[in-house]
Amino acid sequence: MSDTAAAGTPGTAPGAARLAVTDGATATRILGLGHYRPSNVITNQDLVDRGVDTDDEWIKTRVGIAERRWADADETVVDMAEQAGAKALANSGVAATDVDLVLVATCTMPTPVPAAAPNLAHRLGIDAPGAFDVNSGCSGFVYALNTASAAVLTGQARNVLVVASERFSGWLDMADRSTCIILGDAAAAAVVGPADAPGMGPVVWGSAGDQSDAVVIEEDTRFFKQEGQAVYRWATGEMAPIGIEACRRAGVAPEDIAAFVPHQANLRIIDALARRIGLPNAVVARDIVTSGNTSAATIPLALSRMVERGEIESGAPVLILGFGSGLAYAGQVVLAP
Ligand SMILES: CC(C)(COP(=O)(O)OP(=O)(O)OC[C@H]1O[C@@H](n2cnc3c(N)ncnc32)[C@H](O)[C@@H]1OP(=O)(O)O)[C@@H](O)C(=O)NCCC(=O)NCCS
Repeated sequence: MSDTAAAGTPGTAPGAARLAVTDGATATRILGLGHYRPSNVITNQDLVDRGVDTDDEWIKTRVGIAERRWADADETVVDMAEQAGAKALANSGVAATDVDLVLVATCTMPTPVPAAAPNLAHRLGIDAPGAFDVNSGCSGFVYALNTASAAVLTGQARNVLVVASERFSGWLDMADRSTCIILGDAAAAAVVGPADAPGMGPVVWGSAGDQSDAVVIEEDTRFFKQEGQAVYRWATGEMAPIGIEACRRAGVAPEDIAAFVPHQANLRIIDALARRIGLPNAVVARDIVTSGNTSAATIPLALSRMVERGEIESGAPVLILGFGSGLAYAGQVVLAP
């Protein structure tokens, strides 16, 4: 158990017990990012060579992917998370001993239990933190990020390590050319901690549970399946207002957004959203081209790579927008670390 912020004074109201609460931080921000991509590059031609009835031109034109990474046979969700998490801790300057909560956003652990987070924390030398997984499919990282921020704001944790790690190569139907070409493996992480001024705007999150069958891992086959066109219409039609609302709630005009990092599901969706939200001055993440769709990991992976390449200045406002299985979504403006 970690020694978090000091407890407040319990009240003594007659007839009703009053509980002490902890004092939290006045504001939070992302202190550092890190990412990991497996070494195996799978080009579109590699898929053709493996017998998939597709071609490079179709994939690039319809989806935007040139290549993706797939993990080694013995490389796990936790292995990749460990690499990304260690880098995020190093880049943030936060010591493992100062982390009180570890969250892993994933939907590709091989079995429902154990969760990835406790094992990840142990491997990183984080001593007995709160630790659990968040499964909200492709929007999972943004959900976990806000859970982390809330924990710091309420004094439940001093710093939180949030890692998104996905290994979709183990869940692909190689006979289904509409899905097996899309997904990749990767992990990416953020450290969330206290700040003098707000570095994370209010989240706009929600769901459309009437479409829960639209993106699934099938119970009998254990293959990833999606109703591609229905999800495409939903994402391009419904997600732009979420991005606009996230800017409004953060008090940032879309013209002032320096970078747009949406879920990397399809390059045509990414470009349509950037156009509809109206982001004339934003660098738009196009990480899908070389990483494919890595589900919950796409947003922190793209953001971490953009920061590493120097495309986003520290403190610049970034609009992140996750969407996918559930269907569920979450968007917000954050400041780059
Ligand atoms: C999945 C997706 C890329 C498929 O693209 P699409 O243009 O909708 O393609 P369709 O599935 O309608 O198929 C159109 C045609 O291309 C063919 N096709 C599908 N995959 C193909 C491939 N890899 N190579 C060649 N042809 C392919 C289909 O067989 C079909 O042919 P037909 O017209 O002769 O029947 C697209 O729908 C999409 O990106 N959807 C949103 C996904 C998303 O946001 N998910 C979020 C959660 S991860």
